[in-house]
Amino acid sequence: MPRKSAKKPKAPASVEFPNGEKIRILITRERIQKRIAEMGQQIRAEFPGEPLHLVGVLKGAVFFLSDLARSIPGDVSFDMIAVSSYGKNSQSSGQVKLTRDLDSSIENRTIIVVEDILDTGLTLRYLLRIFEQRKPKQMRVAVLLDKPERRVAPVQAHYVGFKIPNEFVVGFGLDYAERYRNLPDVAVLTLPDNHAIRH
Ligand code: PRP
Repeated sequence: MPRKSAKKPKAPASVEFPNGEKIRILITRERIQKRIAEMGQQIRAEFPGEPLHLVGVLKGAVFFLSDLARSIPGDVSFDMIAVSSYGKNSQSSGQVKLTRDLDSSIENRTIIVVEDILDTGLTLRYLLRIFEQRKPKQMRVAVLLDKPERRVAPVQAHYVGFKIPNEFVVGFGLDYAERYRNLPDVAVLTLPDNHAIRH
């Protein structure tokens, strides 16, 4: 006899925390998981039989990377890189600094750069330049979220989970002051008394 499936608890559409911060779900965990599964299939369909090396950008990309890696059938490996940005918030130079390099070479490998969000594009512009110099066989970019309105550098992703409006989002790896990364959904954050959030 088939077992009755237990109903999964639904996340509330919006929540206010005791500190006055509010989140409103923009993309549910179900939609995220469905889309990542599609992206994994799409990537494999474009590279049948090819070993794929995913390069995740810490920290925001950890959950997307782990789900995407598991949704691509076949030969998949991954590595992580970390950067810190200067001036991104004040719209100045947007300088980026490498703080943790990859463990292994990407030369002559097919790599997929994996990011949680493509915002101004400054981080990816910096990273793609570095990776190009290391002569991968082929390189693609996969982002869970794309916020085209904020773009400063003309970077485009080959695989985009969701295009989103210019709102401050948290969850599924994205943080506000290191919090909310563990939220399984993507949500819009508002601060108490309409304090502006600096991106
Ligand atoms: C976020 C995100 C991307 C970058 C995108 O990282 O994870 O790496 O910003 O923004 P951009 O397109 O404007 O460059 P963040 O610097 O917040 O670090 P984190 O991943 O550790 O949260």
